[in-house]
Amino acid sequence: MIDIRSKLKFDKESLIALLTFEQVKSGVFSFQNKDLASEIKKASVAGQFEGNKGELFPVLMEKKIVVLCGVGKEKDINLTSVRIQLRRAILSGYLKKVKSVEVIAYKDKEDVVTALIEGAVIGSYSWRKYISIKKDDKTVFEKNITIAARPNKVYDEAVIISQNVNFVRDLINDNADTVTSLFLEKTVRNVLKNQKGVNLQVFDRNKLKAKKFGLLLAVNQGSNKEPRVLIAKYQGAGKKDPYIALVGKGLTYDTGGLNLKPTGHMETMRQDMSGAACVIGMLKTALELKIKKNIIFACGIAENAIDANAYKPGDVITGYSGKTVEIGNTDAEGRLVLADVLAYLVKNEKPARIIDLATLTGAVVVALGHDYTGLVSNDDDLARGILKSAQATDDRVWQLPSYLELRDSMKSKIADIKNTSNYKGAAGTITGAEFLRQFVGDVPWAHLDIAGTAFVENDSRWYFGHGATGAGVRLLTHYLKNN
Ligand code: BES
Ligand code: ZN
Ligand code: ZN
Repeated sequence: MIDIRSKLKFDKESLIALLTFEQVKSGVFSFQNKDLASEIKKASVAGQFEGNKGELFPVLMEKKIVVLCGVGKEKDINLTSVRIQLRRAILSGYLKKVKSVEVIAYKDKEDVVTALIEGAVIGSYSWRKYISIKKDDKTVFEKNITIAARPNKVYDEAVIISQNVNFVRDLINDNADTVTSLFLEKTVRNVLKNQKGVNLQVFDRNKLKAKKFGLLLAVNQGSNKEPRVLIAKYQGAGKKDPYIALVGKGLTYDTGGLNLKPTGHMETMRQDMSGAACVIGMLKTALELKIKKNIIFACGIAENAIDANAYKPGDVITGYSGKTVEIGNTDAEGRLVLADVLAYLVKNEKPARIIDLATLTGAVVVALGHDYTGLVSNDDDLARGILKSAQATDDRVWQLPSYLELRDSMKSKIADIKNTSNYKGAAGTITGAEFLRQFVGDVPWAHLDIAGTAFVENDSRWYFGHGATGAGVRLLTHYLKNN
C-alpha cells in the first residue's frame, strides 16, 4: 500500500526515511522538525553521517527510527540513487520493528517524489509466492508506505505505472506451467473486464491454421499447450488517428527445441514471455491512465518444447507472409513467432508504427549486459523518441545499428530466408533484428531486445530484486504519452 499525503503522521511505530544531501556537512541543511534537525546535526558534527551518495544512517528519536538516506549533492541529484536508497531503507533490518514507512523527500520536487514512489513500489517488490513464511514473521514487503508530498496527478500516475511494473513481474516470475497461453488470455480478458473501447481478437489453434500462421504453429508443434495470438485494439484518440502497434514475444517456455538449451541456459526460460507480459501490462496502463492514443496490443504466444512432433532443424516452413523460412536452429524461435504476428499486423491492421519487445537473443546480454535494452530500428524518429523516453524514465535503452548489407546474413540456399545468421555467432542481436525487419515492410519499426533487462539473477541490481524487472513498462508509457 502506498499513500501520498501533504503531511506525514510521524507515527510512533513508523520508520521514517529521509532523503539527505551533502549540505548536512556545512550545516546548511535545515528541517522543520527541530528535534530531527538537531539529531542530524549531531550526527554530522560527529562525522557519522555526511549525506554522501549511498550512505544510510539510522537515528533513534524516542521510539522512532529515522533512516537518513544520503543521496549526494542536491544540485546534480541522481534519481537512480534516490530509488536505490529508498529500496535499501525500506528493506533495512530496522523495519522488522515498525508497522509502516513514512518518507520525507526534504523538498517537494516532482522528479524526486516520482523517483521515491518508484523506489518504494518497484524497490519493495519481491517474488515470494513459493516461500513459506512463518505466521508471525511480519514481512518487510507488506508495510504501508506514506510519502510526504503535495497531491499531484503525476504521482497518482507514477503509482499506477509502478504497480503495473510489478503486475508484469508477477506474470514473468511464476512457473511456465502456470502462466500458459490460456492463462495469458485470461489475464487479458480480466484486464478488459468492464472496459469499453477495446476490441479483443483471440486466434486459437484452428484460427491460426486457417490464417496460415505457419511459423508460430511450427514453434508450438512439440508442445502440449495451445498456441495463441491475442490482438487488443484500444482507441484512445479519434477514429481516424493512426494506430501504433506494440508486439510482444510470448514464449511461455523456451527449451530451445531440438537444438536443446544446455544446463545453465534453460533454468530461467519462463522469462521468455517477458515481451508479451509487458504488452499486457501496457494495455492495463493505457486503460488506467486513459492514454490518448490509438494502440494495438499484440502477443504471439507459444511454447518451444519437444516431443516427437517438434519442428526440426533443416525444416523449411511457410509463414503468414508467404515467405519460406529455413530453420537453421530451433532455438531461434522468437523471431519466427514474431514474424507471423508482424506480417499479419502489417497486412491487416496497417499500423503507422510498430514497436516489438522480445527476449530475443543471448547476444544482447554479451553486448549490453543487464542494464540496457538493445534497440534496433529502421526509423530514426521512432528510435530518437524511444531513447528520449529511456532517458526520462531510467528504463534504459541503447541503440544498435541496422543497415542494408545485413540482409545477406540471413540468406538461405533452400528457402527465401533463414532464421539463423551466416555470420556464425557474430552480431547476434542485429542479425536477429534483421530477420524481423524482413516482415515489417516499410512501416517505421523499432525492436527492443529485452533478453538482458527483463530478468536479473541478482539479489539487488539497482532498485530491483532477483527475477523479473518489468523492463519496458515505464519506457513505453512515457513514449506513448509523449509521441
Ligand atoms: N529466448 C532466447 C534468448 C534469451 C537468452 C532470452 C538469454 C533471455 C536470456 C532465444 O530464443 C534464443 O535462444 N536465441 C538464440 C538464437 C540463436 C540460436 C541464433 C541465442 O541467443 O542463442
Ligand atoms: Zn530460443
Ligand atoms: Zn526464446
